[in-house]
Amino acid sequence: MENTLSKALLEWYQNHARILPWRSDVTPYHVLLSEIMLQQTRVDTVVPYYLRFIDRFPTFRDLAEAEEAEVLLLWQGLGYYSRARNLHRAAKEVVSTYGGDLPRDKDSLLRLSGVGPYVSSAVRAIAFNEKDAAVDGNLIRVYARLNAAVVDVTSAKTKTACGEYFLAHMEQPSSFNQALMDLGELICLPHGAPLCDKCPLKQWCKAFQQGNPLDYPPPKKKNEVRQVRLSVLLVTPKAGHVAIHKRPDNGLLAGLYEFPNVEGKFTLSALRQRFPSLEKIQKVGVEKHRFSHILWTMDVYRCEGDMPNVIVVPTREVRQKYSLPTAFAKLLPYLED
Ligand code: ADE
Repeated sequence: MENTLSKALLEWYQNHARILPWRSDVTPYHVLLSEIMLQQTRVDTVVPYYLRFIDRFPTFRDLAEAEEAEVLLLWQGLGYYSRARNLHRAAKEVVSTYGGDLPRDKDSLLRLSGVGPYVSSAVRAIAFNEKDAAVDGNLIRVYARLNAAVVDVTSAKTKTACGEYFLAHMEQPSSFNQALMDLGELICLPHGAPLCDKCPLKQWCKAFQQGNPLDYPPPKKKNEVRQVRLSVLLVTPKAGHVAIHKRPDNGLLAGLYEFPNVEGKFTLSALRQRFPSLEKIQKVGVEKHRFSHILWTMDVYRCEGDMPNVIVVPTREVRQKYSLPTAFAKLLPYLED
């Protein structure tokens, strides 16, 4: 029988598929949850979050009935928290509109909160075995190398061409898509040399044949990273307690908790003037946190005293009870004495 790209890929997947929790019990809920978590986040990071999440919310119904605060708490540390809010909304929509079963048609999926073309295609292919290509950066890289195509990785045209290319070869959509994901993440590596020796598709790969797979796709223009300086106050109004504050409902880290802070770099006397109710202000360190387009450099101050508009909570309970994003959780060690 003719050895096709599809056959080679599927055979490789049979022998090399990663063992991942969402693959051991493939349900539409598990696939949707894993794909949403995996957007912008690495597989190794996602696995423990995914397991905790399905343990606490085994079905769409369980998730739909939860309080948003608990959903955010389970998401704490994964970042991009709007994903959690949208997923929670989507679960409610699945229950109210579809009786708790995820629909399989593209239009209905795309109407769910937080579900865009990538996730809808991934769910249709992986969970429902519908012929659809879940095009992300990994697939575009594999496509660009196979065809030695100089493509703009960010353009809609490239996404369409990549989807059409793989659809033309696709058999067994569920395995085919997951095989491409594994190939992109394990073999056809983005940084450093791809492992072409081990690639099941090398006989079809123009970039391999030319000997220059690293030239494809051409690097995208670097995003500007905005530098922001923050002065963060670890206020201890009484022993073993700390002041926290809820962030506004929109913008970066919307609705999550933070330690009180102000933008800018201050001298100690300027800080004292700005916060006259605080005592014993001392600088204890500098920490950085990188978001996708913003770099925070945080001057960290410990102090005592009172502050308006904050909640005072036992320091030990902050992480268990409030959704404190990683940027601020990094500062917790400064409170342990
Ligand atoms: N990356 C995105 N989705 C994935 C999946 N389902 N399996 C492995 N890696 C992925």
